[in-house]
Amino acid sequence: MLAVRTLMPARKLFSEPMHLLIKDARVLDIGVGGGRTSLHLMGECRTYIGLDYSAPMIEACRARFPFCKEAFSVGDARDLRHLGVAQFDLVLFAFAGLDSVGHEDRQKILSEVHAVLDDEGLFFFSTHSLHAFPFDDAEAQARNAHLDPVELRTRGWVQLTDKRADVFLYYVYPDFQVRQLQQAGFEVIETIDMNGKPFDFRNPPRDWLVTFLCRKV
Ligand SMILES: C[S@@+](CC[C@H](N)C(=O)[O-])C[C@H]1O[C@@H](n2cnc3c(N)ncnc32)[C@H](O)[C@@H]1O
Repeated sequence: MLAVRTLMPARKLFSEPMHLLIKDARVLDIGVGGGRTSLHLMGECRTYIGLDYSAPMIEACRARFPFCKEAFSVGDARDLRHLGVAQFDLVLFAFAGLDSVGHEDRQKILSEVHAVLDDEGLFFFSTHSLHAFPFDDAEAQARNAHLDPVELRTRGWVQLTDKRADVFLYYVYPDFQVRQLQQAGFEVIETIDMNGKPFDFRNPPRDWLVTFLCRKV
């Protein structure tokens, strides 16, 4: 697991404009992990479901929020329709949870999220950015020395191991991510760097994590 200090602070994640989106929304928080985001969402939104495919994570959330145990359930982002079609105003998959699956499954998840969102519903997620490659971290770079940056730029995405040799993560160029989202029926509203600042594609950050806010169209 990545060090907690590398997380974008939740107060930046849930800035003032985000609060307006959360208020009165029906929220699905996928890959809820230990409940970092739940803390900022549960008291604000209309309804809240925290989902994770890891049963120990869901147990940890139930222990952390004993008065809202029923808000948390074990479930896989690749299969969401049992929660009901068009039932949510806002779906989150925070801190690159989406990157733990491969290309086909990623597309499946985007399609599931699209199905459970109501018209014009919002999807907020973060992902590993290929603008961080080649890596500054010598060990991570050595593990990926075989990857050709020119080929990667054409391909748009790759699954690689960075700090941990045993964990494959999906890295993507933000502009390729936009195309993937458009194909899945989303329009991108904003792309955000690790300082919580919007960026545009003419000047993308070298940050390893970028956040997308998009809308179902
Ligand atoms: C890096 S953690 C992020 C936890 C939390 N969202 C946060 O921001 O602190 C990613 C979480 O996503 C969960 N996850 C990954 N793939 C998933 C999937 N297909 N379905 C449900 N949960 C998934 C993992 O179990 C893990 O708890």
